[in-house]
Amino acid sequence: MSRFNLEILLGIILVSFTTVIVVIYAFNEEDRMAEEAEAQHARAIEVGATVYENNCSGCHGPKGEGILGLCPPINDGQFFTTRLEEVGWSGSLEDYIISTVASGRATSTRPDEYAGQGRPAMPAWSDEFGGPLRPDQIQNVATFILNWESTALEEYVLEELATPTPSPEEEADPIARGQRVFLDRGCGGCHTIEGLSAGTVGPNQTNIGTVAETRIPGMSAEDYIQESILDPSAYVVEGFQDDVMPKNYNELLASEELSDLLAFLLSLR
Ligand code: HEC
Ligand code: HEC
Repeated sequence: MSRFNLEILLGIILVSFTTVIVVIYAFNEEDRMAEEAEAQHARAIEVGATVYENNCSGCHGPKGEGILGLCPPINDGQFFTTRLEEVGWSGSLEDYIISTVASGRATSTRPDEYAGQGRPAMPAWSDEFGGPLRPDQIQNVATFILNWESTALEEYVLEELATPTPSPEEEADPIARGQRVFLDRGCGGCHTIEGLSAGTVGPNQTNIGTVAETRIPGMSAEDYIQESILDPSAYVVEGFQDDVMPKNYNELLASEELSDLLAFLLSLR
């Protein structure tokens, strides 16, 4: 072999070798990018879960099961199949969630199911609309909700979430019963009680039993709390909006539920 041919052969071997290295690297890079995308998706779901727990679970339920008469479930088959058609939305479900959550909803789209629903039905969440969340947090909470799709379509949710039957002791204690009413009726979606609920739409009620004594001079704490529940506009707490708390609790609450709620709230001192 001439020296010239040998050089060509070496050249070819070198080029082929480099090509093989580049191809192997490219394949690995594709895998690496897929892994990175998956990890990012998992992180978004995790962050979204925290946003959900802190801001949404009080109304839409810890697992998206909704609260009868107050807010719809968003972890159910119907939300993932027919809902967009129902409201005439032509974009993706992700865009629907982001847009609804960002700007809130002025009035319920199902006024019959949520009769007398406070206005707005859902406050705006994006800081662009005066709410507490940044766009990336809303994106993450949407990713978290979309991740419910597979289980929602299996419709395991409602069975799994059937409220456990109260113990006989709980059943016999008006304060314990009242605490349950507070959660079941969605009060916790708007009101914080330390250790129990985290809503921030309405005033914190951790000490409402004491605060209620001072709201209206001459009015007892019990009368004030009852009036606040049945007729929220009668006295609007400074710094909060009127017409947000639902005005139909006198229809929604059985009289026993109301008296249990009063016993519970009066005990918070
Ligand atoms: C104060 C109670 C409340 C809170 C808190 C709340 N929502 Fe809502 N949400 C509602 C109501 C009421 C509706 C409107 C129901 C209707 O149109 O009938 C709604 C609608 C929605 C919808 C559209 C559902 C549908 O079927 O069209 C989504 C998605 C949603 N909320 C997500 C969220 C997320 C995410 C959060 C937390 C960042 C949140 N919500 C916090 C009350 C609430
Ligand atoms: C959609 C949000 C929302 C829900 C749900 C809600 N509230 Fe409220 N609530 C508010 C807002 C906002 C205020 C403050 C404005 C006002 O005084 O009407 C308020 C005020 C109150 C007050 C007066 C608090 C004070 O510091 O003087 C009481 C008591 C009260 N709510 C109890 C309840 C109970 C009990 C429930 C459930 C049966 C409930 N709320 C459900 C939003 C809500």
